[in-house]
Amino acid sequence: MSIHPIIKMGHPTLREVARPVGLDEIDRPEMHTLIADMVETLHQAGGIGLAAPQIDQPIQLAIIEVPGGPSRYGDIEAIPLTVFFNPVLTVLNPEESGYWEGCLSVPGLRGFVYRPQHVRVDYTTISGEQASLELRGFLATVVQHEFDHLAGKLYVDHIRDMTQLVFEDEWLAHQQEPD
Ligand code: NI
Repeated sequence: MSIHPIIKMGHPTLREVARPVGLDEIDRPEMHTLIADMVETLHQAGGIGLAAPQIDQPIQLAIIEVPGGPSRYGDIEAIPLTVFFNPVLTVLNPEESGYWEGCLSVPGLRGFVYRPQHVRVDYTTISGEQASLELRGFLATVVQHEFDHLAGKLYVDHIRDMTQLVFEDEWLAHQQEPD
């Protein structure tokens, strides 16, 4: 296993639409190595999600691992380490709420982003089976952020008020919720 460098905003791969992964590719040893590398890279970076394009692999693959419990986002439910191939997101309720988002590909910054808070994700698992997951609140935001990476989008694209794009150290020192 190895840790891969995480590419940053400005690298063209982050703006590409990732290609779908074929069912025949999922069970290959090189795919399992890539996933193990992504897990190691995510853990080393201390993040909660990593999409393959962030390590310059433009394929529809993302991993998410959210430790549950109290956090600055409130008391959140956990998502155990989950591998998503070819995820399709459906908004079940368009009502939005905002969170301060950060991204390993946009280091040092935070931005306040509004997104729908009730979604369903249909995806292919690491065993090549179809699965679906219904998520609310912060976890709905997390999957939308990660799957945006597979569509060549970054959270900064969704910021409506550019005064809400800030450096993380200043944000921690002066944290305020926007009205
Ligand atoms: Ni990100």
